[in-house]
Amino acid sequence: MPNPFVIGSGPPGTNYTVMKRAFDEGWGAVIAKTVSLDSSKVINVTPRYARLRAGGHNGSAKGEVIGWENIELISDRPLETMLKEFKQLKKEYPDRILIASVMEEYDRAAWQELIERVEETGVDALEINFSCPHGMPERKMGAAVGQDCALLEEVCGWVNEKATVPVWAKMTPNVTDIAEPARVALRSGSEGIAAINTIMSVMGINLDTLRPEPCVEGYSTPGGYSSKAVHPIALAKVMSIAQMMKSEFPDPALSLSGIGGVENGGHAAEFILLGANTVQVCTGVMMHGYGHVKQLCSELKDFMVKHNFSSIEDFRGISLQYFTTHTDLVRRQQEAIQQRKAIRKGLASDKEWTGDGFVKETETMVSN
Ligand SMILES: Cc1cc2nc3c(=O)[nH]c(=O)nc-3n(C[C@H](O)[C@H](O)[C@H](O)COP(=O)(O)O)c2cc1C
Repeated sequence: MPNPFVIGSGPPGTNYTVMKRAFDEGWGAVIAKTVSLDSSKVINVTPRYARLRAGGHNGSAKGEVIGWENIELISDRPLETMLKEFKQLKKEYPDRILIASVMEEYDRAAWQELIERVEETGVDALEINFSCPHGMPERKMGAAVGQDCALLEEVCGWVNEKATVPVWAKMTPNVTDIAEPARVALRSGSEGIAAINTIMSVMGINLDTLRPEPCVEGYSTPGGYSSKAVHPIALAKVMSIAQMMKSEFPDPALSLSGIGGVENGGHAAEFILLGANTVQVCTGVMMHGYGHVKQLCSELKDFMVKHNFSSIEDFRGISLQYFTTHTDLVRRQQEAIQQRKAIRKGLASDKEWTGDGFVKETETMVSN
């Protein structure tokens, strides 16, 4: 890949025209919108997006968009059409990476038929959508599989016994410990993990109409949260998967793709510092367009020059070593204070909080 930036599965990879545009603008790889065997079962509603703006309530203010909710389903285009377009793209861009995202019902034959048909187009890899939080779980698809390790192991087994190209399992963050399904996916033969898909959310309630957003004929359903606001959550999930991979699956051929709220080169650097090989962007493309990849690359390069890194491998995973337990933080701080290397900052104990100075006291304990 010319760079680590990958179009994440979603609207930016819905058809030939937009995927071609992504390659032309310089994206390192494209993951197409998730496909299934029978698109006639996929019926979308509109509006299906709702935004969260900084400094406002219910999207009424004109602040910066920091959060995005969608109730969009997987691709509603016929599989035949999508397959033709994958083939065409691989013909026109033979040395660029095209990854198909796939999802099927709980049926071994269906999964394996889908994989065979998609692979015939010449795609370079498969991302398995075990993570869509809305609509599809009602058909035992998406997050319904990713949230159930026994089911995941079975379906991942079907996928990996059939697939001949690398398989990335895309994880849902809507679980207690994301390392568990990631471990199952790797044990079942997957070559990579992608995380995260969207976080289950209710974007807000319109205080004039008292109806939830996004509002369809007066009603809504919980959807998937993405964009800048989810970035810290995505970092925690990727950190936890990376630590598990480092200790249990040290094979350098296995890869990790970080996803969630990437809008600048620094966000991408953070995922790589935690161990990601590639970084996916979905909502960022919907807000800033395909040309945004140039800015992402140049900001990532600036970061690398500043630290004298000449390749992604020079800094991949190096911040992982700085995570430890809270008990260990206490020990380290006590040691540092004893050696007079550090002075005590903030309040010495919880009894020192006052009502009047509360905001200032809070500030004395913030690190950034
Ligand atoms: C409108 C929309 C549609 C999406 N559709 C899919 C999809 O079809 N398959 C999939 O695996 N992920 C899908 N996603 C999830 C994204 O690929 C990504 O995991 C998530 O949005 C977090 O990344 P971001 O903050 O860069 O958008 C979709 C996201 C959005 C916003």
